[in-house]
Amino acid sequence: MFLTKNYYKLNLITQPLDYQRYIRVYRWNPYRQQKPWFNVYPISTKNCGPMVLDALFQIKNTQDSSLSFRRSCREGICGSCSMNINGTNSLACLKSLSKESKFITIYPLPHMYVIKDLIIDLTNFYSQYKLIKPWLVNNLLPEKEQLQSKKDRLELDGLYECILCACCSASCPSYWWNQDTYLGPAILLQAYRWVVDSRDNNTNYRLKFLNHKIRLFRCHTIMNCSKTCPKNLNPGRAIANIKQTILYN
Ligand code: SF4
Ligand code: SF4
Ligand code: FES
Repeated sequence: MFLTKNYYKLNLITQPLDYQRYIRVYRWNPYRQQKPWFNVYPISTKNCGPMVLDALFQIKNTQDSSLSFRRSCREGICGSCSMNINGTNSLACLKSLSKESKFITIYPLPHMYVIKDLIIDLTNFYSQYKLIKPWLVNNLLPEKEQLQSKKDRLELDGLYECILCACCSASCPSYWWNQDTYLGPAILLQAYRWVVDSRDNNTNYRLKFLNHKIRLFRCHTIMNCSKTCPKNLNPGRAIANIKQTILYN
């Protein structure tokens, strides 16, 4: 639905200005013979939940049902609602409307192929995830429960919390230009999670796979990834740790 000037005027008159927000959303529809465009949707925070994701629901339910975006948990757990909000890659369900400016601009995650509106194609991202074998490998016999010391378990803190939202990878200049070969911060953090797991005995294979001039070493420690992670993780440090482990292994 395309909104007219009168619609904006009406909303401005009926809503007190403090509650008014203008959500400017990137739109693209592969079935329309048209370049990408923006729609601006006025919303009132009075009849809407507190987060940017609530605003998108409000728009979809009351103004424009054609708007497409991913979401599932609305708790910062599933990683589906990642998008670029006012210049920062983040999760829409964790971004508070009240902390954003009156005018909120939303793009899909940058440098990713767009399927429709805010939905990006994560096929390459998940194939790269598959490459690191993101599961426990332990061939020790007899098969039995693998216990971990408290210290070994602590090594996984700051790694296991990653929800694969791709915010970090989509903020990494090295990933923007080399995502066919460079694994990017999200996948490398996940790779490190299995490298340091004391129960896994595939470490040498994992390190051999990672020790590659582009796959791993295309990271130039710019640290955009760690700055943007909505879960406050530090993929840049995980990558540095992989490099160090390879060096001293
Ligand atoms: S490290 Fe953070 S930004 Fe990157 S995928 Fe995991 S949760 Fe998302
Ligand atoms: S530290 Fe490495 S992975 Fe993170 S943004 Fe910089 S180049 Fe990308
Ligand atoms: S909807 Fe699941 S992380 Fe936002």
